[in-house]
Amino acid sequence: MLALRRMLTPRRKRVMPPSITDEIVTERLLIRPTRPGDSADVLTSIDDEIETINGWRPQSKLDLGRAIAADRDPWHWVIRLREPDVLIGVLGAQFVDPLMIDGCEIGFWVLGQHRRNGYMTEAVAAFVERLGVNDITTVRASTAVSNVAVHRIMHSVGFVETGRRQRTLQNGTVIDAIDYKAPAR
Ligand SMILES: CC(C)(COP(=O)(O)OP(=O)(O)OC[C@H]1O[C@@H](n2cnc3c(N)ncnc32)[C@H](O)[C@@H]1OP(=O)(O)O)[C@@H](O)C(=O)NCCC(=O)NCCS
Repeated sequence: MLALRRMLTPRRKRVMPPSITDEIVTERLLIRPTRPGDSADVLTSIDDEIETINGWRPQSKLDLGRAIAADRDPWHWVIRLREPDVLIGVLGAQFVDPLMIDGCEIGFWVLGQHRRNGYMTEAVAAFVERLGVNDITTVRASTAVSNVAVHRIMHSVGFVETGRRQRTLQNGTVIDAIDYKAPAR
């Protein structure tokens, strides 16, 4: 019975379409899918604050590092400065829509020493534009009411608030969150 139910239930894909695996170049940044060699840099970019804000379980960071090293991570992009060529942050995107056109949710972080330079605003704008070019109709994001920087980014890039709710993160932490949506470009 369980096997039959599994066969009849469509699997919710969490993959990115191949059409957005190309790199994105902006005025100051290069954004590209992770490669196995990025694993150590990505792990170093995740400090305790980022783990807490994302509400990850202790294992989450290690799992991400292993997935990148094994070339099994279609969900994250590294954000690198073009000059000098260093990793300054990471952008993640996941689909919960089997047709991969709706419900793409993004998340992101920037290393502490590179914050407040407008990098994430530049990265999110370019990333959302690329998703739109690839016929992905809706991009979503969700963050804590207290996360002022993310709200600023959402407004700058043209996201609109779609609702407020209590949201339970992976590690069980409950936050007051604001949901956002950006229409396709
Ligand atoms: C959120 C985060 C990615 C922003 O990255 P960033 O490159 O510093 O962002 P930007 O420089 O593009 O700044 C965007 C806006 O937020 C403001 N801002 C940035 N950090 C801020 C802070 N700590 N407090 C208040 N405003 C802040 C900037 O002044 C800018 O405002 P403006 O558009 O009015 O000029 C970064 O702070 C971070 O990694 N935080 C920890 C992880 C996190 O919160 N991720 C999001 C989870 S949903």
